[in-house]
Amino acid sequence: KPLVFSGVQPTGNLHLGNYLGAIRKFVALQENNDCIYCVVDLHSITAQLVHEDLPGQIRSIAAAFIASGIDPEKHIVFNQSAVPQHAELAWIFNCVARIGWMNRMTQFKDKAGKDRENASLGLLAYPSLMAADILVYRATHVPVGDDQKQHLELARDIAMKFNLDFQTKIRSAGTGVDIVVGEEPVHAYFPMVEPLIEGPAPRVMSLRDGTKKMSKSDPSDLSRINLMDDADTISKKIRKAKTDPDALPGEVEGLQGRPEAENLVGIYAALADTSKAKVLSEFGGQQFSTFKPALVDLAVSVLSPITGEMRRLMEDTSHIDAILRRGGERARERAEKTMAEVADIIGFLR
Ligand code: TYM
Repeated sequence: KPLVFSGVQPTGNLHLGNYLGAIRKFVALQENNDCIYCVVDLHSITAQLVHEDLPGQIRSIAAAFIASGIDPEKHIVFNQSAVPQHAELAWIFNCVARIGWMNRMTQFKDKAGKDRENASLGLLAYPSLMAADILVYRATHVPVGDDQKQHLELARDIAMKFNLDFQTKIRSAGTGVDIVVGEEPVHAYFPMVEPLIEGPAPRVMSLRDGTKKMSKSDPSDLSRINLMDDADTISKKIRKAKTDPDALPGEVEGLQGRPEAENLVGIYAALADTSKAKVLSEFGGQQFSTFKPALVDLAVSVLSPITGEMRRLMEDTSHIDAILRRGGERARERAEKTMAEVADIIGFLR
């Protein structure tokens, strides 16, 4: 079975972008894969060191996973810091990756802003830890939103450089496999990760501006639907969502140059597990005054059971804590095996 890994940061409230771009895909992938889903608490201290209630944030992401339908018995749910091998492999990857690779990351440039000298070293090295998260399990498939694409390309670059730098050692350790990358045959210890980004909503946009990503950091709460919003709030935000005056087109091509319309149709399609083309075959020619109420009904019917279950799970945290503890143990067992093999390849005595 293919091995799937993905992570979500425990910062701020989860929004519809996180749900449609990531968590909903995590749920669907459980059927045919072996999955590891991680609350990446080590990542959450890169941009902001001190958090008001980090334990609560970590639990609420785990609760969102479970409430959305992730099965922590069949798959693994845990928090990153419980498995020290993530940080250990990240250190090695810091020595594999080049500073120039990190400097080119658009997320680093955005988050560091103008005062780059004053950003934490952790924020710069963030993609190295992300590569370690995935590769410490030698996972191959990574469901994420479109904004993480560049980081996953970097994870491939890191894996490739490690494999090439240690070719002979990997061969003599006997832990690698022959793969072909492009035309190149490589004896690889780390696999080339495949991002899973496709779907109707790989990049959910702000409800106030169809050219900006829906994000936790947007000052306007009307710009996003939070996973914890109640039905009235969801309804208000969708009704107030920016649109243009035209009717919906009958075909996907008609959405070009209409970012707000495209966004709402994409959201509808993702929530209904269908395609934008199918949504437009139903709503083409109709006004937003008809489409928006249908979207409200759909969004509420999908999200409110999740919100309700999250609230229930958060009432008594012992259940979530037990899931995380058990998940951490299972993850650690696998990660230890990789780190022992990596130590042998590099030549660390153990
Ligand atoms: P994070 O916590 O910012 O976001 C979690 C997931 O939500 C997706 N996402 C979106 N998808 C569509 N539209 C949006 N507007 C939107 N906003 C966020 C993100 O793409 C992500 O999939 N670096 C990662 C966490 C991470 C990780 C990993 C992911 C750490 N290690 C290893 C995969 C594999 C992050 O900050 O995601």
